[in-house]
Amino acid sequence: MTPKRLTGKVALITGGGNGIGRATCLRFAEEGAAIVIADVDESAGQQLAEQINDTGARAIFVSTDVSSEASVGNLVKEILGQFNTIDVLINNAATFVLRGIDASIVEWQQVLQVNVLGTALVTRSVVPVMKDSGGGAIVNLGSISSFIAQPAFVTYSATKAAISSMTRCLAEDLAASHIRVNAVCPGTVWTGIVEELTRQQGLDRSTADAHPDWGGAHMLHRIADPREIANAILFLASDEASFITGENLMVDGGYTAR
Ligand SMILES: NC(=O)c1ccc[n+]([C@@H]2O[C@H](COP(=O)([O-])OP(=O)(O)OC[C@H]3O[C@@H](n4cnc5c(N)ncnc54)[C@H](O)[C@@H]3O)[C@@H](O)[C@H]2O)c1
Repeated sequence: MTPKRLTGKVALITGGGNGIGRATCLRFAEEGAAIVIADVDESAGQQLAEQINDTGARAIFVSTDVSSEASVGNLVKEILGQFNTIDVLINNAATFVLRGIDASIVEWQQVLQVNVLGTALVTRSVVPVMKDSGGGAIVNLGSISSFIAQPAFVTYSATKAAISSMTRCLAEDLAASHIRVNAVCPGTVWTGIVEELTRQQGLDRSTADAHPDWGGAHMLHRIADPREIANAILFLASDEASFITGENLMVDGGYTAR
C-alpha cells in the first residue's frame, strides 16, 4: 500500500466548504491529514466535516470570516485547543467581484478585504504556530488571472496578482523558518461561480467544455474538476515538494502556455 502523504499533519483550509477548497479537504483527508475547514458558509462547512468524520478521518469546522482579525484569532485559538499545531495552511477563500475600472469603492474594498487582506491575516496568525513547531507548508490560490488579461476582471485579477506576489515575498521571508510558500494557479474550474456564469450564457457542463471562451480556451479543451486542482495543492503541501518554494504553479490545462 502507498504510504499516505499527510499522515499526522494538521491542515487548515480556508474557504473549505465549497468548490476547490472542499475538494482539497476531501483529498487531504484521504492522505491522512486532520482537517480544519474555515468558512463563512456554516451549513456547507458543517456538512463536510460530518462527511469526512464518517469516513473515519478527522475534521472540524470553524465558522470563520478570513477578513476579520477577531474571527481569524478565534480560528487559531480553536485549532490550538483541539490539535495543538498547524502544519499546512491552504489560503483558498476568495470572493468573486468581477468588475472593470468602473468598480465602486465598496466593491474594491470587498474584494481586497477577503482575497488579499484575508490571506495576509490568516497567514500572519498561523506563521508563529508553524515556527513554534519547526516549519510547515503554505499553499495560496492564485489563478491564470494573476498573469493574463480577461475582460472586466480588473478587481479580481488585481487581487490574484497580489497573491502571486505575496507568495514569492513570503517564501523569501519564511524560508529560514522552514516554511515553504507556493501558489497553485488554476485555469477555469467547475465550481459555483463558473456554473453560474456559464448558466447565464445558456451553457451546461458539456457545452461549456466545448465553448471557445470556456473549456475551449485551454489546450486540453475542457474545464477542470476541483479534484484536479486539489491534487496539485496536495503535491505542494506534501514533503514531495520539499525543495519547492516561491513557485506559482500553473494548473491550467495549457491556457497560459499559448
Ligand atoms: N473556480 C475557478 O475557475 C478558479 C480559477 C482560478 C482560481 N480560483 C481560486 O480558487 C479559490 C477557490 O475558488 P472556488 O471556485 O472553489 O470558489 P467557491 O466560491 O466555490 O468557494 C470559495 C469558498 O470560500 C468561502 N469564503 C468566501 N468568503 C469568505 C470569507 N470572507 N471567509 C471565509 N470563507 C470565505 C465561500 O463561502 C466558499 O465556501 C479562490 O481563491 C479562487 O480565486 C478559482
